[in-house]
Parts: sequence; structure tokens; C-alpha cells
Amino acid sequence: MQEATVKVWDPLVRIGHWGLALAFLVAYLSEGEPEWLHSFAGYTIAAYLAVRLVWGFIGPKHARFSSFLFSPRKVIAYLRDLPRGKSERHLGHSPAGGAMVIALMLSLGGTAFSGMALLAAEEGEGPLAGYIAQTDTLGAAQTAPVVRYEGNDEHHEGRGDDSVWEDVHEVFANLTLLLVLLHLAGVAMASIAHNENLPRSMVTGRKRA
Ligand code: HEM
Ligand code: HEM
Repeated sequence: MQEATVKVWDPLVRIGHWGLALAFLVAYLSEGEPEWLHSFAGYTIAAYLAVRLVWGFIGPKHARFSSFLFSPRKVIAYLRDLPRGKSERHLGHSPAGGAMVIALMLSLGGTAFSGMALLAAEEGEGPLAGYIAQTDTLGAAQTAPVVRYEGNDEHHEGRGDDSVWEDVHEVFANLTLLLVLLHLAGVAMASIAHNENLPRSMVTGRKRA
């Protein structure tokens, strides 16, 4: 007999999730080059985050922040119970899952923002170009001692003044990667603990009632 299931994840959350995962992979693995591909993936992520933010207030029940924002005490209690196989099953995001959604969204937002800032600082391009000064120019290098990279920095071709945004962007990108790995570990542990295939639910949108 087939198990009774209920609809949990709406199409925006599901299509958005796999699109987000793909765009993150493309952005991370391309490491800035080719620039059009990297920026396209990054802007896609930024645009989806904006849509998901609004959806978190007006979307269906399980997509709403109010349904998966739990107190830190509940998050810790859930994480303590999970490896012991005693964690409570949740139809929507669990307390730890909900906290991870927020952490991922913040870190992805920081990555996308710092990427745009880096593009402005390095090339004087992108949506933040009017707000963040271009530091990585030949002009800037002329007023400072001229720095010449001996071909060991493939992206800068002898230009001076690396922007601090490069470090900020790299730290955020790697923080996001770390969160993604924890996210995958959490999904795997919760799937085992509650004997259900959570990734499949993110495809079909349905979970055991
Ligand atoms: C193959 C890799 C991945 C798998 C199998 C996977 C699986 C899942 C599952 C099962 C959920 C629902 C969790 C729950 O039941 O509470 C989820 C949610 C989520 N995942 Fe992933 N994930 C993957 C990759 C990623 C990546 C790369 C990112 C971000 C860069 C990401 C970001 C998110 C976000 C933001 C949510 C919350 C969805 C929402 O409420 O809109 N995931 N993921
Ligand atoms: C949110 C997803 C994003 C991820 C995961 C990501 C990831 C990365 C990574 C890993 C690097 C290489 C860092 C290094 O080793 O120095 C990089 C470089 C870069 N990213 Fe992003 N990025 C994202 C979004 C963006 C956006 C939205 C923009 C601008 C529109 C952008 C612009 C750049 C630029 C200009 C570089 C430097 C290329 C160079 O080396 O000169 N990134 N990014």
C-alpha cells in the first residue's frame, strides 16, 4: 500500500532550491572566471535571495520564516537529540534546518554583495560601481609605488592595489561552502533519523504525513 503523503514544499521553494544549488556550484567553481558566467551565477543567487526573502513573509505556511524560526534553545536541543536518534520529526524545516536556512541566506547574501563590491573596486563595473571607489587601476598604482606581479597573479596582470573586497569575498565564499557541507550532513542525519528521503521531498515537494 502506498504511504499517505502531504504537500510541504511549494514549487518556488523547490525550483529555487535546485537552481540555487546549481548557481552556487557554478559561481564557486568558476572562481571569478569567466567573468560573465561567474557574475551571471552570482546575480542569479542575489535575485533569488530577494524573491525568497519576500516569499518568507507572503508564501505558503512551510515557506514562511515564522514557521521555521525557533529559539536557540530549541535549535541546540534538536542538535543534541539528532545523533542519538531522538530528535522530533518536523514536516517543515526542523529547528536546526531553519537556523541553517537563515545562515545560508545571510552568507550567500554576503558573498554576492562582496562579489559586486569587488567588481566595482577592480573594474569600476556592476551595480555598486557608483558607491565603491575603483582601487585596482593603473591610475591608483601610479600614485603609489608601482607594483609589478611577476605573472604569479593570473587575474591582475600587473595592476596595483588589491582590494580588501577580494579577501572579504573569498572568506564569505568559503564560509558559504562550509555551511553547505554542514547543510548536507544535517540533511543526511535527519533523513536517517526519521527514515525518510529528504532530498527527494525537495524534488517532489511531498513528505510522509
Ligand atoms: C546536492 C546537494 C543538496 C541537497 C541534497 C540539499 C537538500 C536539501 C533539503 C532536503 C532541504 C530541505 C531541508 C528540510 O527538510 O528542512 C534543503 C533546504 C535548503 N537548502 Fe539544500 N541541498 C543541497 C544543496 C544546497 C546548496 C548548494 C545550497 C546553497 C548554496 C542549499 C541551500 C538550501 C536552502 C536555502 C534551503 C531552504 C529552502 C527554503 O526554505 O527555501 N542547498 N536542501
Ligand atoms: C554568491 C555567489 C558567489 C560565489 C560562491 C563566489 C565565489 C567566488 C570565488 C570562490 C572567487 C575566487 C576568490 C579568490 O580565490 O580570490 C570569486 C572571485 C570573484 N568574484 Fe565571486 N562569487 C559569487 C558572487 C559574485 C558576484 C555576484 C560577483 C559580481 C557581480 C562576483 C565577482 C567576483 C570577482 C570580480 C572575482 C575576482 C576575480 C579575480 O580574481 O579578479 N562574485 N568569487
